Amino acid sequence: MDRAVERVIEHIQSLPTQPAMNVEGATEFARTLIERLPQRGESFEKLLAFLFEDAIPRSFTSSGPGYLAYVPGGGLFHSALADFIAAAVNRYVGVCAAAPALVQLEANVVRWFCEILGMPKGSGGVLTSGGSLANFTSVVTARKAMLPDDFLRGTLYCSNQIHHSFQKAANLAGFPYANVRELPVDELFRIRTDALEEAIANDRRGGFTPFLIAGSAGTTGTGAVDDLEALARIAKNEKMWFHVDGAYGALFMLTERGRAALKGIEQADSVILDPHKTLFLPFGTGAVLVRDAGALRRAHSLHADYMPAMQQEDELVDFCEISPELSRDFRGLRVWLPLKLFGIEPFREQLDEKLDLIAYTVDELRKIDGIEIIAEPQLTITAFRLRGDNEVNRELLKRINARKRVMLTPTTLPDGRFVLRIAIASHRTHKDRVDMMLEDIRLECGGNASAF
Ligand SMILES: Cc1ncc(COP(=O)(O)O)c(C=O)c1O
Repeated sequence: MDRAVERVIEHIQSLPTQPAMNVEGATEFARTLIERLPQRGESFEKLLAFLFEDAIPRSFTSSGPGYLAYVPGGGLFHSALADFIAAAVNRYVGVCAAAPALVQLEANVVRWFCEILGMPKGSGGVLTSGGSLANFTSVVTARKAMLPDDFLRGTLYCSNQIHHSFQKAANLAGFPYANVRELPVDELFRIRTDALEEAIANDRRGGFTPFLIAGSAGTTGTGAVDDLEALARIAKNEKMWFHVDGAYGALFMLTERGRAALKGIEQADSVILDPHKTLFLPFGTGAVLVRDAGALRRAHSLHADYMPAMQQEDELVDFCEISPELSRDFRGLRVWLPLKLFGIEPFREQLDEKLDLIAYTVDELRKIDGIEIIAEPQLTITAFRLRGDNEVNRELLKRINARKRVMLTPTTLPDGRFVLRIAIASHRTHKDRVDMMLEDIRLECGGNASAF
């Protein structure tokens, strides 16, 4: 243990000086690792050396301060300690009877998330391995609540900017992709509610059963927040389920600016959030919250004669009764430990700092000749491009990333424009790193597009 901890500490301390990504030759290296089932063991020292010197360095440094790609996940060290304890004691939290106190700790975490989002009494939820599984659980729950067993006339509505895990969830829940209506967005990349209402009306005329509207509380591409109040209103009028993908954005409800941007989220029938994004926890930590906790149970509960008795009181919960999983890790502990250790305040401060940093970033980007802000930040993601064609911007991205102080990723807008994204969401990213990024962008823009 001591040797592992030494390696981990050394690794974490060196994060600021590690390259933001280091994957040249990594796939070739990966191929050399294919091996047969080991018959004999080898020394821990050697295995640790392999992990920390050969395998781990050949990757995106997704826990480092320069990771401004996709949606960053910091990986709070304290959660690793919780994981260590959870796996070492290996208690069973799939059913309440097996470890009631531990199940209660995880249930508290879910309740805290409901509180952060302003969801009413009677709401509840479950921790998942991430946003994708949370979306899946939501769609299955909505399908069971809103549609008959023969549900193929059911249609779902979202913007063409929603994270693709939503369409995937719908498909896994049994709907053909064609039943998911991807609607156009406005100039802020938010779903066009006029198009939504029209699509619902058309589908009703065509004999479909519109049953679910999905809003985005922060899209991955440009960080857009749909007009959640308007979506809640439409869902209510149309007697449809209102789902919100808050995998990236929902936890900004901890901040005043976030609450202003996300108004309406508290009216959702289901919301997903990813503590492994904006609560800085290690990957493998998502959550789904449902306004009527009973809907989760009605969708997932199933009796088997060899199982222990399930809880009947509202306060106690069996996670296997409200989710697709039975045996699973005690993932609640990796949320519970840091929240109990620090309280919520430092997390709120961190998110506020990221909101300040993105505002500073766009102010500085605007001063660079030739740069256009394509997506004003609604939370902590922005998208920009250099005047010129897509090739110019691909080249710009390549050059910024080649400096290895930050890693940015692109997206393509519905109109075909290739844009560079900046996502600030790691607890390890502070102003010093943002300044490095700005310096690299300034240098690579070289004043204007003719540099290419
Ligand atoms: C907005 C959004 N929704 C859903 C997901 C899917 O979550 P996960 O990767 O945790 O499965 C992501 C990102 O990965 C996301 O950015």
